[in-house]
Order: sequence, then structure tokens, then C-alpha cells
Amino acid sequence: MKILVTGAKGQLGTELRNVLEEQLPGITDYTDVDTLDLRNAQEVARYVERGDFTHIVNCAAYTAVDRAEDEKAECSALNVDAVRNLAMAADSFGVKLLHISTDYVFDGRACRPYRESDKVNPVSQYGTTKRKGETQLLAIAPDSVIIRSAWLYSPYGHNFVKTMLSLADKLSGREPLRVVCDQIGTPTYSLDLAKAIVTVLKARQWVPGIFHFTDEGAASWYDFACAIMRIAGKQCKVKPILTEDYPTAATRPCYSVLDRSRIKATYGIEIPHWEESLQHCLSRMK
Ligand SMILES: NC(=O)c1ccc[n+]([C@@H]2O[C@H](COP(=O)([O-])OP(=O)(O)OC[C@H]3O[C@@H](n4cnc5c(N)ncnc54)[C@H](OP(=O)(O)O)[C@@H]3O)[C@@H](O)[C@H]2O)c1
Repeated sequence: MKILVTGAKGQLGTELRNVLEEQLPGITDYTDVDTLDLRNAQEVARYVERGDFTHIVNCAAYTAVDRAEDEKAECSALNVDAVRNLAMAADSFGVKLLHISTDYVFDGRACRPYRESDKVNPVSQYGTTKRKGETQLLAIAPDSVIIRSAWLYSPYGHNFVKTMLSLADKLSGREPLRVVCDQIGTPTYSLDLAKAIVTVLKARQWVPGIFHFTDEGAASWYDFACAIMRIAGKQCKVKPILTEDYPTAATRPCYSVLDRSRIKATYGIEIPHWEESLQHCLSRMK
């Protein structure tokens, strides 16, 4: 087994490196844009051919959801073209590809957790390009695995937890933090997703197709912010507001809870509740 992780310096990539170095040490090559620019098809093909890899895990993506509305070409280059380049290389050299996608492929009009077979209908540029990446990948390399996740956070990179903690320090109890309460999803600890990815890589059987993985439970961004303040012991008050009172460039699904039954049944994965994982992450960040 020899693994290539792309986008290895991002928040998921960094956690995946932590887990791989512990569970499968010494068999992984970690790249990011400085060592392998996934937008360059020839470079990707050459790298994959020379590396003699058995598996690729793609953690690279254009993830700036609001900026994507203006930077359509940049977003598409990474979420669509780069995925196609990886898919072609994986298919040409017989490498198994595991790719990460998002809850933002759905429009949020459901009233129960989304299953893998549910109709997609992205409502943002980011979601649209991530969906195009999925379809290209499955058309070129149908043996691939796609794991859709949501609301990722970790001690690394940019994420909601780090933003809330820094805003709490900046406001230092002077005024409440306004956070939207009418978008529901599941906060997901990147370390839990990284562990699930390694379980899939280590499994005896490779089962292609789409899987949903998030932590257990569901919450609004407001619930998430309240839990962050409570667990981190911040004095900052949190005030619930509506999406219409916090306009953003990109539309987000108002409900994007994912049904994780398939990944649990296929791989016997036990998933922690999001609040338990948040406690773990915050204790590491202290
Ligand atoms: N973040 C979330 O809440 C969330 C939710 C659901 C699904 N996901 C998905 O989960 C995956 C991991 O997300 P993440 O939050 O870990 O993303 P991230 O922190 O933004 O990491 C993405 C990595 O890709 C790198 N990259 C950028 N351009 C590249 C290129 N041309 N070639 C190679 N690498 C390049 C980035 O480098 P630079 O930083 O230098 O640009 C960064 O290190 C993505 O597929 C994302 O769509 C994320």
C-alpha cells in the first residue's frame, strides 16, 4: 500500500496526516499546491505514474464559499478541473481515489437527513463546482469513493470554531455575537473525518460510490456558537439572528444534515456526537 494525500496542508489534510502517521506510518506522500499543483494535468499524471501509488486521497479544494461567487474560474479550476486531472491519472495507472465532497450539493429543502441517493441541487458556486467534480470523477474513474462531509473544523486553518473564539476575545463581553439560527447542519471534527478515511483505506473491501460522513447530531450555527463559548469558558453572549439579517454572497442550504447510515453499516464506524468532539478539539487548542 502506498498513499498520496493531496491538499495535505489544509485542515483536513493536516488531521489526516496525524492519523496516517499513527496508524499507517511511513507509506504516505503528502503534497500541496507548492509541491503538486493539481490544476496541471500533465504534472499530476507524471507524479501519479512515478509514485507507484495504490491510493490517492484528495483533500485539496477551493473552499472559500462566499469568495467563490466572484472567483468562479478559480473555484472551478480546483473543484472541477483538478478533480478531473486526478481521476484521469487514477484511472490510467490503476490507483484507487478517495475524494471529499460537501453537504452544499443539496438545496436544503429536505425535512429529514439527506441520503446519498437523494437528488442534488446546489445553490451556490462552491456547491455547483463540488457537484461537477463528483460527476466528472464518477464518469472517469467509477471505482472511486466520494465522502461528503459538512461544517468541518479543527485546530488548523480557517474555520468557524477559530473565528468564534477570536471574535469572543475581540468583543470581550462588550456586545453579543450575532449568529444565524435558521441554518441546520452538523458540525464535524476534521479528526473524526480523518479517522473515517483511514478506516476506509484499511478496509478489506473497497466499496466504490458516495458516502455521507459527519459527526452525530444536528445543530444550527447559533447552537454551535453557544457550545463553543460554553465549553471554552468564554463570557461572550451569543444572539440568534436570521439568515436574512446576515446577508452573504453565497446562498447556503437552510438544512443540510447528512444521513450517515451507509458509511456506518459498510465500515462499522462509530461516530461521536458533535458536542463530544467539540470538547476534544477545544481541549487540544488550549
Ligand atoms: N471546510 C468545510 O467546512 C468543509 C465542509 C464540507 C466539505 N469540505 C471539503 O473537505 C475537503 C477539505 O476541506 P478543508 O476545509 O480541509 O480545505 P482547506 O483547509 O481549504 O484545504 C485545502 C487545501 O488545498 C490546497 N490547494 C489549493 N490549491 C491547490 C492546488 N492548485 N493544488 C493542490 N492543492 C491546492 C490549499 O492550499 P492553500 O491554502 O495554499 O490554498 C489547502 O492546503 C474539501 O474537499 C472541501 O470541499 C469542507
